Amino acid sequence: MQPQYIIVHQQVAPYVAHIQLNRPSELNALNLQLMGELRDALKLLDSDDQVRAIVISGNDKAFAAGADIKQMAEKSAIDMLNIDQFSTWDTIKKTKKPIIAATSGFVLGGGCELAMLCDMIVASETTRFGQPEIKLGIMPGAGGTQRLTRAVGKALAMEMVLTGRMITATEALHAGLINKIVPVELYLQEAIKLASEVADMSPVAVKLAKEAVLKAFDSSLEEGLHFERKNFYLLFASQDQQEGMKAFTEKRKPVFKGK
Ligand code: HXC
Repeated sequence: MQPQYIIVHQQVAPYVAHIQLNRPSELNALNLQLMGELRDALKLLDSDDQVRAIVISGNDKAFAAGADIKQMAEKSAIDMLNIDQFSTWDTIKKTKKPIIAATSGFVLGGGCELAMLCDMIVASETTRFGQPEIKLGIMPGAGGTQRLTRAVGKALAMEMVLTGRMITATEALHAGLINKIVPVELYLQEAIKLASEVADMSPVAVKLAKEAVLKAFDSSLEEGLHFERKNFYLLFASQDQQEGMKAFTEKRKPVFKGK
């Protein structure tokens, strides 16, 4: 069945797929159906050999203005528990291929959490990041207190989470939340360019390197170093390692196959 709230572009550049969140009349508010469609699309792309990197965008006005408040407004704690929306987020988190968020306009609440679940963020200069849940009498629930704090540090995270203040793209860049800022006409193009750079690398090395960087968030240094070393050794079993090093000595561009 065709998704209703996302558009999937299989090949926007060689080996690069693009998912556009497409619920513009609600500023891409992340209702349960949209999140389910996103999860299913990512699962398919993650197992597609023709895809090596994925870009997720919204539109110029909003990447996503958060979870759908209208859908949540009447829910009880037990409804929320039974709906178990976070199992969808947990599946998205397991995506092994790199995901780049291309953001513009509002990146709020669950939208900010979704962008932070991605591996890199390319933002337009009009992007505003925020965790405004506190203004609704709730708090972030999909990683906002954890990933934001790890990315920008305690002082700014506390301020954003406790006051709901939005930060500009410039502040986000200085705080280390995002990778780059570009003019609004270019953010999607730049994100696809960055994804293409990654897609040029060995997909098996990219997969294991992404996994190792993410490991830094939930392990001690010793444990993380141990994990890194195992992945490093494992790559010497790949044809891509042989190709990469051979191409270096032959002074040519490597052709990686993901094997
Ligand atoms: C449902 C939303 C929405 C949201 C916007 N809309 N955000 N609907 N859930 N999160 C809808 C509006 O109701 C409106 O529809 C339409 O989108 C346009 O929004 P406006 O408010 O008219 O636009 P504007 O005046 O430009 O203001 C933009 C805005 C504001 C500042 C982003 O919409 C806003 O504050 N939105 C809520 C942001 C927020 O609190 N996010 C956190 C949600 S909680 P109608 O039909 O009225 O025209 C959350 C928890 C995550 O994310 C938990 C884990 C998943």
